Amino acid sequence: MTANSGALGVTSMRTHLCGRVAISDVGTAVRVCGWVAKRREHGEHLAFIDLRDHTGIVQCVVPGTVDVRSEYVLAIEGVVRPRPEGTVNPDLPTGMVELGECSVTVLASADPPPFVVEDRVEVDEGIRLKYRYVDLRRPRMQANLRLRAAVNGALRAAMDRQGFVEVETPLLWAPTPEGAREFVVPSRLHHGSSYVLPQSPQLAKQLLMVAGVDRYYQIARCLRDEDLRADRQFEFSQLDIEASFVTQPDILGFVSEAVLDGAEAATGERPGSIETMTWAQAIDRFGTDKPDLRFGMELIDLSAVFEGTEVKAFGAPCVRAIVLPGGATLSRSRLDTLTDRAKAMGARGLAWFRVTDGEGEGAGNGGGAGNGGGAGNGGAVGLDSPLDRFLSEDERSGLLAGTAAQAGDLVLVVADEYRLACTVLGQLRVELAGRPVSEGPYRYVWVVDFPMFDGVDGAGHPVAAHHPFTMPHPDDLDRLETDPLSVRSQAYDLVLNGWELGSGSVRIHRGDIQGRVFAVLGISEEEAESRFGFLLGAFRYGAPPHAGFAVGIDRLAAIFAGEDSIREVIAFPKTQSGSDPMTGAPKPVSPGTLAELGVRSVAVPAQG
Ligand code: AMO
Repeated sequence: MTANSGALGVTSMRTHLCGRVAISDVGTAVRVCGWVAKRREHGEHLAFIDLRDHTGIVQCVVPGTVDVRSEYVLAIEGVVRPRPEGTVNPDLPTGMVELGECSVTVLASADPPPFVVEDRVEVDEGIRLKYRYVDLRRPRMQANLRLRAAVNGALRAAMDRQGFVEVETPLLWAPTPEGAREFVVPSRLHHGSSYVLPQSPQLAKQLLMVAGVDRYYQIARCLRDEDLRADRQFEFSQLDIEASFVTQPDILGFVSEAVLDGAEAATGERPGSIETMTWAQAIDRFGTDKPDLRFGMELIDLSAVFEGTEVKAFGAPCVRAIVLPGGATLSRSRLDTLTDRAKAMGARGLAWFRVTDGEGEGAGNGGGAGNGGGAGNGGAVGLDSPLDRFLSEDERSGLLAGTAAQAGDLVLVVADEYRLACTVLGQLRVELAGRPVSEGPYRYVWVVDFPMFDGVDGAGHPVAAHHPFTMPHPDDLDRLETDPLSVRSQAYDLVLNGWELGSGSVRIHRGDIQGRVFAVLGISEEEAESRFGFLLGAFRYGAPPHAGFAVGIDRLAAIFAGEDSIREVIAFPKTQSGSDPMTGAPKPVSPGTLAELGVRSVAVPAQG
């Protein structure tokens, strides 16, 4: 028996991996191990077994009958031979060959699996997660795990190459200022006190900068007790980095290098570079700080067209529009749904205009009066909308010229406060485009110059948009106290196909600026001392200027794997409701354990 020397996967139990048996192995005696994917009897004298491991399937022909069933674990010895004419399977990498004259050893029997281990079989997610160890046998899931590992490997290599040092930081930690609800771990040795699981290594990595580490990175587990969604789990991983004596462009460079390497490892193609836009530009053009650049439909400013308008619906500081190409065919009920959606997001309403070929009512399916417009965009076009009859001739032609909409298109207009109008249209733009996040092409963008604060809290204090250690933009520092909401920060995000991949900032390393920011946030000296005293104390011992970033690895891997939920690239994720059907977690804790922790379980009355 010859081992295919050098091939990964060769062990003392096997010579070949199932999916790697090739036509060049014909004549070789091999031994493969794996699970029974399929078993067929051919009369009394022949049995066919498709044996599966993580590399694929190989067909094994066994003389006589064998008493094995689906998912039994076998070792099979046989000689590689070409498949007989007419039985070649072009869909299978090993479809040219089979193992003949096989002898079978049963390594483990198996109960019938809860579902067939094949990619194309649709299975309820609850069942998949209950039997995750079976679910993960599917080729797609195996590929996802391996792709994620390849991305991690590339990220690590890129950080090592750039002189970063991998340092592990504690999981049993104290509260961090990321703003999410935290998981709390009661202390057995200090009754009444608890550790907090870190939302990120934020403060630890800043302390490492004070410690002179200079360039730190970690593939860090982070824990946040927040509502779960397609792009959110309680537990997730970040490529977390921090560096000293750097400015924003340095960090963008380090991260770009790592992420582009990760992309290459996952997809085989290295994107050229990553474009940059300011937060203000992103809001203005796309209505969101997570712009999806894969398609157009950018927001159009019609405020000048409707300045001083008599149309009540458009009497607002800002009038913005988007054009849905070919959208004039949307039914009236779909348009009503869109209007409800806009209102649910806080807009006063949503105006729609079907663009017709000039005959009125031409492109739509009923409703509204039509009027010719034809404002310099080729042939005469008109508008079909309940609002059309209220528009002046100038407004009608201004709307058509401003949007450059063509017959058959749909124009959606929101008139409101600037941010609200942009946000609502930005959201509708994404929903109407309906592009799954993982669908190519991959469009990366750096969004820089985020505002320092995002609205005000109940007490009237501005709320930190990133976290309270983010350095204000130097040009805006003098307005920190007088006009805080206009102050930009040195915070930046990396966005891919409309998902936030990561965030970071230049940090405040100077006590005087930190004190001013805490004061604006309404954090008293005592509160700052009690929450972050250990960090502020460390800064008094000499803090270098530093900055950092964290990339969400689950999101990155999901997009590269062609998945629209991060659960598909996590070995053991939680369900949407935060439970694990396999282990039953979370589970009640025994009274003995609670007593040891000094914790008593009490019934909490339902809220609201
Ligand atoms: P932030 O909180 O923006 O920044 O997180 C960085 C990135 O982590 C990912 N992420 C998540 N992924 C899955 N599930 C979640 N619940 C989840 N929450 C966040 C996202 C996000 O962009 N300490 C700062 C970084 C810094 O300033 O250096 C931080 O954690 O991809």
